[in-house]
Amino acid sequence: MRFLLPKVALLIPAAGSGERFGASIPKALVQLNGRTLIEHTVLNLGPVASQIIVAAPAGFEDKFREILGGAVTVVTGGSTRTKSVKIALESIAEDIEFILVHDAARPLASGELGRSVIEALASGEVAVIPALSVSDTIKEVDAANYVVSTPNRERLRAVQTPQGFARETLIKAHMQNIEATDDGALVEAMRGKVKLIEGENRALKITNPEDLATALKYLIPNQSSDIRAGVGVDAHAFSTDPERALWLAGLLWENEIGVDGHSDGDVAAHAICDALFAAAGIGDLGSNFGTSKPEYAGASGERLLSETLKLVTGAGFTIQNVAVQIVGNRPKIGSRRVEAVTKISQILGGVPVSVSATTTDGLGLTGEGKGIGAIATALITSSGR
Ligand code: CTP
Ligand code: MG
Repeated sequence: MRFLLPKVALLIPAAGSGERFGASIPKALVQLNGRTLIEHTVLNLGPVASQIIVAAPAGFEDKFREILGGAVTVVTGGSTRTKSVKIALESIAEDIEFILVHDAARPLASGELGRSVIEALASGEVAVIPALSVSDTIKEVDAANYVVSTPNRERLRAVQTPQGFARETLIKAHMQNIEATDDGALVEAMRGKVKLIEGENRALKITNPEDLATALKYLIPNQSSDIRAGVGVDAHAFSTDPERALWLAGLLWENEIGVDGHSDGDVAAHAICDALFAAAGIGDLGSNFGTSKPEYAGASGERLLSETLKLVTGAGFTIQNVAVQIVGNRPKIGSRRVEAVTKISQILGGVPVSVSATTTDGLGLTGEGKGIGAIATALITSSGR
């Protein structure tokens, strides 16, 4: 599993109205392949951060909170992007060392890109921004549209987000109270060193409606690759020991009674592991972590998921997504759904995850309140090895 650096805050300016996009709702709430842009953004980059702050358009704060759940701090954005970032900055936690600023308008920037930015910061850079070389020749023009100059294309770069900063650098940059379309320019204005790293095409910015079609291409698996699906099911009965802790979907559920089992009994994690093994055709939970492997006795759901990731990628597969449905009367999942999604996604290296829940009309072990079950599916692709 790729490592995670703690002490990173992710600030997401999402308070723009999306004038050029022209929808009747703020651009961050526009749907792309069944999810809003802000959800894509948080799901892709959230896993690299320990704190997430989103600047929402005034009047839409509660809508954002409802979509994003309790793990995300939602603040009211300002009248410009720079002001929105400055407002979000006021909420960063004391122990934050690095800050990533990332536009909600770039929903598909990958966690990997976020990690590359953080790595450059960890190596001592104070401002790091992803960039691509430009293929068009760029002209500088005056107000009447006459060309003023033609900068050498070799030296031009188109910059993206997430842009990363050492905490104090970004705070100082914003104390200048000047406006710019990116935060790198604010550091530049105080003569700070801004380092460029290689950006990625999928971090494209959604500005006009046609940009959605381009973005969609990155969400549909390559047709030429081998696509496989798998299913996994697990259930455990509630423990008679009232002290037994409940672990579910990688999270500890306070004030809930746990389930029996040799492991931590995380049925959601187990069902996902089984779905991944089934998709890859490399056995199941029992054959990979069962009694013949005593080193896994008592293992946490988190550990089993991360070991499963290693086995599935080791067999030549890339996880495209996992979905898990928790079956039971309690705990109620809704308020911690985004937290659970983020946690599982983090463990699985940043893949798209969905977590849902249902009751079963009083039927069966779970309906009678005797335990918790989970059903998961996984989609994986092989690079044709
Ligand atoms: N943004 C913000 N606060 C503002 C304006 C913009 O947080 N007052 C955010 C947008 O939500 C977006 C990012 O800054 O995630 C980049 O801005 P842009 O792509 O220009 O989005 P909009 O300003 O919404 O679009 P437009 O300029 O077409 O109105
Ligand atoms: Mg704008």
